Amino acid sequence: MKVIKTKDYADMSRKAANIISAQIILKPDSVLGLATGSTPVGTYEELTKRYNQGDLDFSKILSVNLDEYRGLDASNDQSYHYFMNEHLFKNVNIDKANTHVPDGSEPDSDKACADYEEIIRSYGGIDLQLLGLGHNGHIGFNEPSDEFAKTTHCVDLTESTIQANKRFFEKEEDVPRQAYTMGIGTIMKAKAILVVVSGEDKSAILNEVINGPITPKVPASVLQLHPNVTIVADEAALSKTTL
Ligand code: GLP
Repeated sequence: MKVIKTKDYADMSRKAANIISAQIILKPDSVLGLATGSTPVGTYEELTKRYNQGDLDFSKILSVNLDEYRGLDASNDQSYHYFMNEHLFKNVNIDKANTHVPDGSEPDSDKACADYEEIIRSYGGIDLQLLGLGHNGHIGFNEPSDEFAKTTHCVDLTESTIQANKRFFEKEEDVPRQAYTMGIGTIMKAKAILVVVSGEDKSAILNEVINGPITPKVPASVLQLHPNVTIVADEAALSKTTL
């Protein structure tokens, strides 16, 4: 794992955007795995800035997002699909037909998940996967568990994730209890992985991810086994990590 320490959130966002920009410049038809959550918002702003400066062309980019709440469709402003439109897709020249998020409006979870795996397979896999980190070590919505999930699947969100994500919803009851997420196996097949982490509140879990045992109880710890992982984290997030 390569760990890049940044001064603060803004610095983290710029450096993460630089890495994604290099990917897009070197391979304009890259398959990008994208993430939601508050951490990558600054990265998407930086990518938009570079696009507006004429430095990036998204016209041939293909994208697959990590996860989506089950029961929310793209028009719901709490869906991850809506988030991606707002924070990136509508701001750059990506072809919307080439952007994919698991279909939260598909009630048949087996179908939603199998269809999604097929999209990723048909694209030849993911070139660069962007990840945020949950407070309990989750990546996508792969919650702490007794085993690593291989492929895209339906998950029951843990209480801590529901609590963490309720800030985006009007009422706690509105937070969906289930989600479709790429599996750990799907994520680990990406050719390269970029993890963005910010803030003191992530410092204990980030230390476990980097230095702790590899265990499905801390899903992101599996990244220690991936040959090409870059973690871009700010000083506060790395304050409990010995590098
Ligand atoms: C959500 C998402 C994750 C994200 C995590 C952390 O639960 N499913 O993909 O990484 O939250 O979010 P944040 O960046 O807001 O801390």
